[in-house]
Amino acid sequence: MEEKFSLNTITQINQAQQKEIFSILQEFIELEHLYESASEIVKTQLHIYDSEFGVKFQRNPIHSIESRIKSPQSIIGKLQKKGLALSAKSAQENLMDIAGIRVVCYYIDDIYAIVELLNMQREYKIIKIKDYIKNPKPSGYRSLHVILMIPVYLATQKKEVPVEIQIRTIAMDFWASLEHQLHYKTNSVVSESLKKELQNCAEVIADTDLRMQDIYQQIYNLD
Ligand code: GTP
Ligand code: MG
Repeated sequence: MEEKFSLNTITQINQAQQKEIFSILQEFIELEHLYESASEIVKTQLHIYDSEFGVKFQRNPIHSIESRIKSPQSIIGKLQKKGLALSAKSAQENLMDIAGIRVVCYYIDDIYAIVELLNMQREYKIIKIKDYIKNPKPSGYRSLHVILMIPVYLATQKKEVPVEIQIRTIAMDFWASLEHQLHYKTNSVVSESLKKELQNCAEVIADTDLRMQDIYQQIYNLD
C-alpha cells in the first residue's frame, strides 16, 4: 500500500529534518502574509479612487474587485515548470503573480484612467504592462495586465512586493470567465472551429464595448 505523508511521518524523521520542514513552512507562511498585505494595500487604494470618483462625479469606474494569493502548490508547480529553485526566496525573486488582483471596470477608458492613477502614485512603480486590449491574445483574450511594485511596511523593515493587476471591462470579463471555464489551462482539446467561434465572440463583445462607451460619451457630452 502507498504510504501517505502525515504529521505522524514528521515525528519519525530526525530533529534536523523536522527543523528544516518547519522552517520552510514558516517561510511560506511569511510569504503569504507579505503578498496578502500588498494585495490589501492596492485594493484599498483602488477603492479610494473609485469612491472619490463617486463623490466628485457621481459615477463609479470600478464594477468589482477580486483577488487571490497563489497557493503554495501552484507556486511550487510554476517554479518547477520554469526549472527554478523550489523555495520561498526563489518564488519572491522570480514570480510576479503571487498576488493577483482583478479589477472589472464599466468602460474601456476607465481601465486606462486607473492605470494612469496608479502610475501617478510616487510610491508605486509599474514594472510591466501587457496591453491585451490593443493587442488581443490569439485566443481573443482582452485585458490590461500591470505588474505594480509596492512598498509594504512591516514592523522592522520595508519590502517591495510585486502585485499583478488584471484590468478589464465587464464585457471582457464575461468572455474571459466563460472561455476560462471552457478550456484555459485544462487538458480538454478545443477544436479549431470552436476556437474560431470563441475569437468571433470576443470580437463581437469588443465591438459592443466600444459602442456602449460611445453611447455613454454622447449622453454625457464627453466628446
Ligand atoms: P502565466 O504563467 O499563466 O501567468 O502566463 P504569463 O506570465 O505569460 O501571463 P499572461 O500575460 O499570459 O497572463 C496570465 C493570466 O492572464 C492568466 O493567469 C489568466 O488569468 C489570464 N489569461 C491569459 N490568457 C488568457 C486566455 O486566453 N483566456 C483567459 N480566460 N484568461 C487568460
Ligand atoms: Mg499567472
